[in-house]
Amino acid sequence: MPSSTFWKSHFETNLAKQRIDWSLLPNITKAEIEAISYSLKVWQLGETSDGKTLTALCEKHALKTNDPDFLISMQLFIKEEQKHGANLGQYIDLIGLPRLRKNWGDTFFRFLRHLNNNLESFTIVVIVAEYAAQVFYQALHDATNCDLLKSICIDILKDEAHHIKFQNQRLLTFFKEKSVYAKAFAVTWYCLFFFGTIHAIWLDHNKALKAGGINKREFFRMMYQKFFKTISFLHKKEESFQTRLEVA
Ligand SMILES: [Fe+2]
Ligand SMILES: [Fe+2]
Repeated sequence: MPSSTFWKSHFETNLAKQRIDWSLLPNITKAEIEAISYSLKVWQLGETSDGKTLTALCEKHALKTNDPDFLISMQLFIKEEQKHGANLGQYIDLIGLPRLRKNWGDTFFRFLRHLNNNLESFTIVVIVAEYAAQVFYQALHDATNCDLLKSICIDILKDEAHHIKFQNQRLLTFFKEKSVYAKAFAVTWYCLFFFGTIHAIWLDHNKALKAGGINKREFFRMMYQKFFKTISFLHKKEESFQTRLEVA
């Protein structure tokens, strides 16, 4: 299984990559803005968390497991999410829209992340959000002909694929320590959380998702397919760690 040092080096290298051509001018149409602007602003807000609570939890975990590189890799992960927020924010400014300061979905996700105040809870919330991000940014990419917005989406999608591997690996470290019954309980609440969350995401973002060609049936199918890869990853045999990381 890749070590924290591996992830630290991955994030350091990835953060240095400039994949977006900011010399491009946004050429999004009014109709496209109408379809995607609400969700674009909500996701931009969601990508701008300061990560203070997560950093505090990771500090404790890094100390407990004597793994300082874990803390650094998580800080770099937060930085990468903030990069998404900054790029989307820059795009929102360029097309002359106001940025969002507050949104119920964002507040709800932040509340959930802090609810149990432990790294396992945080991780499952992040994993579901990452899967939803993969579907959303693909839809956003397909909902527009604007090359600049498309390149921002592609950059995010490249990052998110690694985020899921990184977070799945973290979830596994908690999951494998549990008893058989605690594992059954954990899977139950992961699934309940997932099931509730995908309904909330569909309700809030169906307009933009539909603009990107994703209807309710397809959204649920894609989310189930992705999420069950995580559940399956948690149950594979110890010796296949390397192949497990191919889940995302
Ligand atoms: Fe992100
Ligand atoms: Fe992410």
